Amino acid sequence: MAKNRDDLTNHDYDGIQEYDNDLPPWWIFIFYLSFVFALIYLLNYHVFRTAPLQSQEYAMEMEMARAELAAIEASASARLPLAFMDKVTDLETGKQIFTKYCVPCHGPDGGGTVGPNLTDHYFLHGNTVEDYFNVISLGVPEKGMIPWNKTLSRREILQVASYIQNRLQGSIPANPKEPQGTPLDQRISMLWGN
Ligand code: HEC
Repeated sequence: MAKNRDDLTNHDYDGIQEYDNDLPPWWIFIFYLSFVFALIYLLNYHVFRTAPLQSQEYAMEMEMARAELAAIEASASARLPLAFMDKVTDLETGKQIFTKYCVPCHGPDGGGTVGPNLTDHYFLHGNTVEDYFNVISLGVPEKGMIPWNKTLSRREILQVASYIQNRLQGSIPANPKEPQGTPLDQRISMLWGN
């Protein structure tokens, strides 16, 4: 039990004196509790690392947010209508995709190398948005055109297709490959039977 004898210590500061009492139990309780807390904290965060540190927690939350964003983007992309895009940002992204993936076979300006010239009006697989979408998504593996549906999202395929249709079609490449396939006007006359 706490002694509370109201004993004065022999400290005397200009007439100010002090008692020699025990610390109150609630105070000692909090004091020891802070030891226990510190120990648990130390073991938890720095020894056994059972809980993430602040910076790790931040990284984890950012990672989760990125995954959420990717899921939102994927579902928005999957719902995109099959139509050519004409926004400058989409065409610019399309150009970046083309530069990254398509240049080795279609040339930096679409003039063609292993793959056909994409700037002329001759088409092996047609020039509607559906035609572009199909040939880019599924490729023509036996002819060396890679299927891109595993690498590119629906949005990205539409972006690169729109870039080809909007910027490359009708442009003059440095070293155009000879025409392959059916010229567009002939295709139209075949379709319309005249
Ligand atoms: C490894 C070489 C290669 C790469 C890389 C490649 N292509 Fe092709 N591509 C081809 C070949 C070969 C063909 C012709 C297929 C055929 O003969 O049916 C072709 C055909 C095409 C056609 C149809 C052209 C037509 O005349 O109808 C389009 C459109 C096309 N590619 C777009 C792309 C896009 C977009 C990319 C990049 C995302 C790409 N290609 C990457 C080789 C490639």
